[in-house]
Formats: sequence, C-alpha cells, structure tokens
Amino acid sequence: MPANSPTSRKLDWPLMKNNITRDDLDAVIKFLSEGDPILTQSNQVRAFEKAWSEWLGVKYSVFVNSGSSANQITMGALREVAGTGEVIVPPLTWVSDIAAVLQNGFTPVFVDIDPKTLGMDHRQVLEKITPNTKAVFMTHILGYNALSPELLAELQARGVPLIEDVCESHGATMNGKKLGSLSLMSNFSFYYAHHLSTIEGGMVCTDDRRLYEILRMFRSHGMVRECSDDSYKTPYYEQHPDLNPDFIFAFPAYNVRSTEINAVLGLNQLPRLDANNELRTRNLKLFLNNLDSSKYFTDFVTEGSSNYAFTLVIKEADEGLRDRVMQKLRELKVEFRRGTSGGGNQLRQPYLKRLVGEHEAMKYPAVEHVHFFGFYIGNYPVLDPELILELCNVLNSL
Ligand SMILES: Cc1ncc(COP(=O)(O)O)c(C=O)c1O
Repeated sequence: MPANSPTSRKLDWPLMKNNITRDDLDAVIKFLSEGDPILTQSNQVRAFEKAWSEWLGVKYSVFVNSGSSANQITMGALREVAGTGEVIVPPLTWVSDIAAVLQNGFTPVFVDIDPKTLGMDHRQVLEKITPNTKAVFMTHILGYNALSPELLAELQARGVPLIEDVCESHGATMNGKKLGSLSLMSNFSFYYAHHLSTIEGGMVCTDDRRLYEILRMFRSHGMVRECSDDSYKTPYYEQHPDLNPDFIFAFPAYNVRSTEINAVLGLNQLPRLDANNELRTRNLKLFLNNLDSSKYFTDFVTEGSSNYAFTLVIKEADEGLRDRVMQKLRELKVEFRRGTSGGGNQLRQPYLKRLVGEHEAMKYPAVEHVHFFGFYIGNYPVLDPELILELCNVLNSL
C-alpha cells in the first residue's frame, strides 16, 4: 500500500475505552475490604459532592444516580420556586432534558442551533423570551461552549434564569470559567461514555441555598429530613404537628440517590479529569485540523471546549457521502452515532412528534442538517494520535 493511501485495516475504535481503570476498581475493592462500610448514600457521597463543588467552583452539589435524574430534579426544583410556564430548549439535546420539562408541567419552546457550537442560537433564544419564560435550559453539546458573556448578561438583565446541561461537557469553559458554574442550576452525567464515570451517576450544582435544600429533598422522596439545615426543616415541623418528623414529604418526588461505591469511583477519578480533558482537546484539534474542510464542517468554536467525542458533520446535504462515511466507519470498526447528541432532532421522536405535530421538526434547519448529516465518534485520552490521522485520511478520500 503506498504511504499516503487510506487504510483498510480495522481500527477497533469504540465510543469509549478504559474510562473506569484498574486503579478505580482497586479503589472500590479497598473501600469494600476495610471495616464494615456503609454502602448507601453516606460519607463518600458527601465527600464527592464537596470535591466536585470545589473543582467546578460552586457552593453546592447534589449527587444523583444519572444525568437524567439531574435533569428531572432540576426541573422539579424550578417548578417549586418559579411555578410552571415556558422553558426554552434546543431540539438537539438528550431526551431527558425535554422529558423533564414536560413531566414537570412546563411548555418547551424550541430554538434552532448555531452550527459552530451546536448549542442554541442566541438571537433566537432572546426572541423567544416572553413574560411566561421560566428558564432557558441550555445544553452544551459534545463539549462545545454554547454560552457567551453577552447572552448571560442579557438573560440576567431580563431576569430569566439560565440552567445549563453540562452532561457532555465536563471541564469546558467560557472566558476561563467552568460551564456549570455560571447558571442558577447545572447538570452533569457520569455515565460510562462521559469525561468522568461513576458507572451511572449525575450531579446537580447550584450556588442557591434554597434550591440546594429543595434538590436534596427531591433526591430522596421529597423528604424534609434530607435538608442539610434545620432552619429549612423547622417550618414543616411546626406546620405539621400531626406528622412524624422523619416522614414529612414536602414534594411529590423520587428516589434518585446514588451509592457510596459510585462516589468512590468519582472521588478516585476527579484528580485526573483535567489532564484527561487536555488530551481529549489535543485529539479534537488534531481531528478537526486534518479533516478536509471542503467535505466536512470544521469551523466549530473550540475555545474552552472539552469533548469526549469528535463531531463529524458533512458540509453539504450530500446523502451519497453520508452513506459512504457510514459504510466505511462500519468497515473499519469505528463505532459512531448518527445525529450526534441524543440521536438528532428530538422533534422527530415519537414522544414529541405526537405533541407538536409532523411539521415542527422542519422549522429548525440547522438541527435538521445535524440530524441527517452529523455523527459523533469516540474521543478518549488513550486514543492514539496516529489513528486519528489515519481516520482523517480515510474520511477525506471518500
Ligand atoms: C445532554 C445530556 N443530558 C442528559 C443526559 C442523561 O444522562 P444519563 O445518561 O446519565 O442519564 C445525557 C446522556 O448522555 C446527555 O447527553
């Protein structure tokens, strides 16, 4: 084979590799083998929440069993403090963001994305704000920062809370500040394929004391005894003398707690998160810089990004190239997902289509393009840069 000709060998490139290491597993074994460990939510969970808050730069974090649960109790808490109304969301996000909006009685209001960040288009966000807007629920897609200082300032000026879904973007920044530390509440996922993994897991973060207490209750059946501060419990005790103080349910909530074992994994992983993210950023830049920009979209705003996946978006609506890309990736054993995050345009999904009708999806052309012509491919710290170049070479030849 000539030196520059594209490879035909199998690249064996999964979406994620080695995200829970031998060292992480040894940390769990050590924890389990010492004394008589508590396994349900206890000291390890508290320690992980504290370490995560320090890493992120927020006052409070609430560890839950998934990113979807983080979305769910965030919207539950918002409903408790703001009442129901409209929440501005992107159609390119995960199902649980929109499910949480719907299940908590809010009306989702959709805006298209900016192709350079895959996040919501700022002009359209501002246009869709009404007196009934309760929040802008932004998703930072696959590590790209979807926020700007201008949008943040404008939302503040208009008194519209920002909520960030950072499930796919741990460590990404805006002007050097970590995403997830700039909003009323933020959500993270620690599912296996993400930057940090506790097998399953999620976090809700906030600087707001009252929301923190509400979130703690929402995590555990809505129980008042979960408040960390007596001043939040006392009014319930006083107003409900007929109830056992141990069993006062303030909200119709859930059990979305995690366990000590998951927290041990999180604590063991956190010290290497930043270094891992640097390798991921190096990989992403190598990928984008070596793709043929006449065939693939390469103008993503990478400043402050922190990606666990490469975004591969075909530039024109070229179905032939799209099909050749899929065929080649399958041939080379490179795992991929079409539609990028969450399978593409949520408005095409049955759960939403039945609410908004057949034609709503088409009103968001930038999301539609990603839905049909966008992919993601795994990006992890141990990915060999030579493999990245080899793949770019193949993709460019199609
Ligand atoms: C943007 C976004 N939000 C929420 C979630 C849900 O997280 P989990 O899979 O931990 O429930 C995901 C899932 O990966 C996601 O990508």
